[in-house]
Amino acid sequence: MLMKLRLLAESEPQGKKVLLRADFNVPLHRGQVADDFRIRAALPTIRWLVERGAKVAICSHLGRPKGKVVPELSLAPVARRLGELLDKEVPLIRDCVGDPVEEAVAGLPPGGVVLLENVRFHPGEEANDPEFARELAAPFELYVNDAFGTAHRAHASTTGVTHYLPAYAGLLLAREVEVLCGITENPRRPYYVVVGGKKIKDKLGVLTDLLPQVDGFLIGGGVAFTFLVAQGKQVGDSIVDRELVPTIRDLIQQATQQGKELHLPQDVVAARELGEEVETKVFPAGAIPEGWLGLDIGPATQAAFAEVLSGAGTVVWAGPMGAFEYTPFARGTEAIARALADSEAFTVVGGGETGEAVVKLGLEDKFSHLSTGGGATLAFLRREPMPALEALRVE
Ligand code: 3PG
Repeated sequence: MLMKLRLLAESEPQGKKVLLRADFNVPLHRGQVADDFRIRAALPTIRWLVERGAKVAICSHLGRPKGKVVPELSLAPVARRLGELLDKEVPLIRDCVGDPVEEAVAGLPPGGVVLLENVRFHPGEEANDPEFARELAAPFELYVNDAFGTAHRAHASTTGVTHYLPAYAGLLLAREVEVLCGITENPRRPYYVVVGGKKIKDKLGVLTDLLPQVDGFLIGGGVAFTFLVAQGKQVGDSIVDRELVPTIRDLIQQATQQGKELHLPQDVVAARELGEEVETKVFPAGAIPEGWLGLDIGPATQAAFAEVLSGAGTVVWAGPMGAFEYTPFARGTEAIARALADSEAFTVVGGGETGEAVVKLGLEDKFSHLSTGGGATLAFLRREPMPALEALRVE
């Protein structure tokens, strides 16, 4: 899937009013941005426009307010953090359409930046309502999309608006597409996907669709226990999706038939409950007693996974290996992060929690690419439709 997009370099933003769609859907904690990775990732495009004297209004969604104003999902904390990062004031405009935007943009000097309030406060955004898209576009002369994390959504601010304005791909979005195109077209082999996270339901489609493309999967996190049960193993009280056991059994069979490697945990760190101060024990992955639940991959698995990854050509990592937000269950995720940081492979981290873990460990510069998209990255790799990219495509 080679994709030629209309690039920012081809736009002529000097003195123009530019609507920039970013993905500032970031985690908040007590009214502050808890992880600013997505905001930092958008800075090169913002600076590029500012340096050329564009008048920049940024729009984004935050959370899922379902078309209503939800004050807790205001972009105010993002405006504050963005202002700090740009070292200039970034006012938050109280709406993303209508008079407040017209007035703010009319008063902007060349190189000025404002942030518009959450686009999902309007039902027209997710409905991709043409009238709402027209209103969004009205005050502007040019549109730039840098919201890769939202590229799998056909919303007014990601696709609808391109019917009314000349549209270009931002620097971040273009880089994400370039990297992921490289992997889907011609990955350096062997190509492994490391899958973790809590719920197998969220990852099943990824596993099924990527099976023909990859050389193998390494499976950890909560996702692993349904695999272990499908192999007839005892997993104690670990999370298992019983309904999916037959499907996973089929998947294991297909992987074997296609000669794909399937690496599952050999041992796990378990506890009777999740917490910071709990007793932990390491059990063989197939023999976790009743009353105990597996919450991280164990030391033997960490070493075995690291060994496989040391010989990899390409690795995509989606989902932590355990409940890494708790210190007793963070080692598995850390071990994989360090193994990948040391590896010669082309390493890509799919955003979300995995990206957070990598940033927390200070290893973000050691990866070939840290994607800002969680769902979008996986959708791209699975070759699902990417409507926001189609809207920017040259041919
Ligand atoms: C994400 O965080 O994955 C993107 O911002 C998309 O958010 P959504 O799943 O609510 O559309």
